[in-house]
Amino acid sequence: MVSGSGCDESSGPRLMPALLIKMINKSRGKILGVLALFLVMVWYSIYREDSFYFPVQENKTVCPIGEVERKAAQLIGNYTRDRPLFLQLKDYFWVRTPSLYELPYGIKGSEDVLLRLLSVTSYSLPESIQSLKCRRCVVVGNGHRLRNSSMGDTINTYDVVIRLNNAPVHGYEQDVGSKTTMRLFYPESAHFDPQAENNPNTLLVLVPFKPVDFQWMEAILSDRKRVRKGFWKQPPLIWDANPEQVRILNPYYMEVTAAKLLSLPMKQPRKVKQKPTTGLLAITLALHFCDLVHIAGFGYPDSANKKQTIHYYEQITLKSMAASEHNISHEAVAIKRMLELGLVKNLTYF
Ligand SMILES: *[C@@H]1O[C@H](CO)[C@@H](O)[C@H](O)[C@H]1NC(C)=O
Ligand SMILES: *[C@@H]1O[C@H](CO)[C@@H](O)[C@H](O)[C@H]1NC(C)=O
Ligand SMILES: *[C@@H]1O[C@H](CO)[C@@H](O)[C@H](O)[C@H]1NC(C)=O
Ligand SMILES: *[C@@H]1O[C@H](CO)[C@@H](O)[C@H](O)[C@H]1NC(C)=O
Ligand SMILES: *[C@@H]1O[C@H](CO)[C@@H](O)[C@H](O)[C@H]1NC(C)=O
Repeated sequence: MVSGSGCDESSGPRLMPALLIKMINKSRGKILGVLALFLVMVWYSIYREDSFYFPVQENKTVCPIGEVERKAAQLIGNYTRDRPLFLQLKDYFWVRTPSLYELPYGIKGSEDVLLRLLSVTSYSLPESIQSLKCRRCVVVGNGHRLRNSSMGDTINTYDVVIRLNNAPVHGYEQDVGSKTTMRLFYPESAHFDPQAENNPNTLLVLVPFKPVDFQWMEAILSDRKRVRKGFWKQPPLIWDANPEQVRILNPYYMEVTAAKLLSLPMKQPRKVKQKPTTGLLAITLALHFCDLVHIAGFGYPDSANKKQTIHYYEQITLKSMAASEHNISHEAVAIKRMLELGLVKNLTYF
C-alpha cells in the first residue's frame, strides 16, 4: 500500500511533462500570441516612459540624459564627445595627430609656441563639473536683451555658467547673475583685470584665433617680452591670472562651429574671411559636454534699428559689427535651427 500510493504519487509528476508538451503542441499559436502581446506591452511601457521624460523640464530634478547627444547628432555630422575640451601637452606629445588646419581651426604651424604655453597651463575639467550627475549649462551672451531682464537669479541656478569676452557682472547681477564657471575670450577681448568680473575658480578659456594669441598668453604667463604686433586692438600687457585657472580651447570646436553649423569652407580666400563669433562657439562647446543647454542674451537688434545698442553693458551699435569678420544673420539662422530642434532653449527673446 505504502509503495502503491508512492507509485501513484510519482506517476503524477511523470505524467505532467508529457501532458504539458501535448498542451503546448496543441495551443502553440495561443502561447506565441500571448508572448507577443506581452513583448508589445513591455516595449510600449518603455516607450511611454521615454517620451514622458523627454520634454525639457523647467525643473532641476529632471535631467534629460542623452537628449543633447541625440539631437546634436542630427545637426552635427560625425558628432562626438570624445574630443578633449582643452588642449593638453599629452595629446601633442604622444598622440601626434598632425593638425590639418592652421588657426583658428587647428594648430598647424603653432606647435612650438603651444608646447611652451601648455607646459605652464592646465587642461583638466574641474572635479566639481566632472562629478556632476547632470550638467545643466547656460551660455550667457552679451546681448541687449539681458538689460532689465531680471534673469540673474535664474542664471545663477545652473551648474555651469559660460560667459563671453569682457562682459561685466558687477552692477548687472540682477540681470546677468554673478556666477561664472567658464569665460571664453581672446587677447583683444580680455578684461584687463581677470579677477575683476570672475569668481576665484572661474576657468579662463583662451580661444585662439591666430598664432600671436598663443604668444600673448605665453609671454604673460612666463613673464617674457610682450608681443605688440598682430592684434587688431591692444590687448592687456599685464594680466594677473593664476595659470591653474587658464585653459586653451581645443580648436576642434571652432572647426565644428564653422564647418558643421555654418557650412563655412575651412580654407577661405584672403578677401572673404568669415569666422564664428565667440558666442556661437560657446554654444557648440556646451553641446559637447552638457546634458542641458540653455542660452540667454543672444541675438542682435533688427538691422533697421540703428540706435539700439547691441550689448547689455556698453553703448555700441550694429555699425561696429559691420567691419567684423562675423556674419551675424548667418549665425542667427544656425541658432534658430537649434531652437526649433529643441537642442537648446532660449531664456530671453531670440
Ligand atoms: C519637478 O517636477 C516634478 C515632476 O515633473 C514635480 O513632481 C516636482 O514638484 C517639481 N519640482 C519643482 C520644484 O518644481
Ligand atoms: C564624417 O567622417 C568621415 C570620415 O572621416 C568623412 O568622410 C565624412 O565626410 C564626415 N561627415 C561629415 C558630415 O562631416
Ligand atoms: C530699465 O529699467 C530702468 C528702471 O526701471 C529704466 O529706466 C530703463 O529705461 C530700462 N531700460 C530698458 C532698456 O528697458
Ligand atoms: C551672410 O550669410 C548669408 C547666408 O546666411 C549670406 O547670404 C550673406 O551673403 C553673408 N554675408 C556676407 C557679408 O558674407
Ligand atoms: C524664445 O524666443 C522666441 C522667439 O524665437 C520667443 O517667442 C520666446 O518667447 C523666447 N523665450 C523666452 C523665454 O523668452
